[in-house]
Amino acid sequence: MTLALDRVSHRYVTDGGEVVHAVAETNLTIPKGQFICVVGPSGCGKTTLLKILAGFVQPTGGQATLDEVPINAPAHERGVVFQQPNLYPWLSVRKNVELGLKFQRVRAEARRSRAIAQLGLVGLEQFAEQRPYELSGGMQQRAQIARVLASDPDIVLMDEPFGALDAITREQLQNDLLRIAREGGKTIFFITHSVDEAIFLGDRVLVMSPRPGRVVLDETIDISQQHGKLLEGAELRATVEFRAYRERIGGAILNQMIA
Ligand SMILES: Nc1ncnc2c1ncn2[C@@H]1O[C@H](COP(=O)(O)OP(=O)(O)OP(=O)(O)O)[C@@H](O)[C@H]1O
Ligand SMILES: [Mg+2]
Repeated sequence: MTLALDRVSHRYVTDGGEVVHAVAETNLTIPKGQFICVVGPSGCGKTTLLKILAGFVQPTGGQATLDEVPINAPAHERGVVFQQPNLYPWLSVRKNVELGLKFQRVRAEARRSRAIAQLGLVGLEQFAEQRPYELSGGMQQRAQIARVLASDPDIVLMDEPFGALDAITREQLQNDLLRIAREGGKTIFFITHSVDEAIFLGDRVLVMSPRPGRVVLDETIDISQQHGKLLEGAELRATVEFRAYRERIGGAILNQMIA
């Protein structure tokens, strides 16, 4: 499952008839199982790229493909996690998680057990029968992630999914997501405004220029391999390698802002 952007660009036309050049011509190949993080200034076209990969938006130039097949519509193999949890308030957390499986016509018992297993993976098994509004924001976000992962998509597209969380919940979810991504061999396209989060999670980090967005830095991250083991959180962030990546990526963002 190779995701690719082949000379993709995008221009929106606003309701007022104004043309907004959101994404400049972009080429990108994301191999199966890669965790790719995207950072860049507000309005540079990150969400637009994600929507193109999801199949919500057709680019005005070029083509997004999955294994060389054009992406023309959303599909179960590409799950999308939004910045805000979008759960149905009238359904229990478990039934929310079952929803995607229902669309896939998975039988009721199988749905139920898969939903409960998935809620377990994000630490919510105790809350399966509660309603979303009875959960904290971070827990709702976990439930949204569980809902997307329950359908077992090969590709997960995530738009600043941890942006609204406190530091501790955020770190917890980062660790959970890394584990799930690695164990499931999933391809993850992850937008964030946090350079540290991008370096911590990503096998690869893209930095985009201001609108019209284009990739100005494409950095492979291999800190863990250099240490021969997986380091967690604070330990990893304190390494010389991590700080070097932070300087390079942070520097590229800064250059874009003053350019
Ligand atoms: N539906 C739309 N119609 C017109 N213009 C749009 C539309 N959606 C996005 N834009 C414009 O396209 C540009 C890129 O938007 P996009 O949402 O992709 O940026 P972003 O990098 O995700 O920003 P942020 O970091 O703030 O989320 C912006 O200038 C935005 O105003
Ligand atoms: Mg965005």
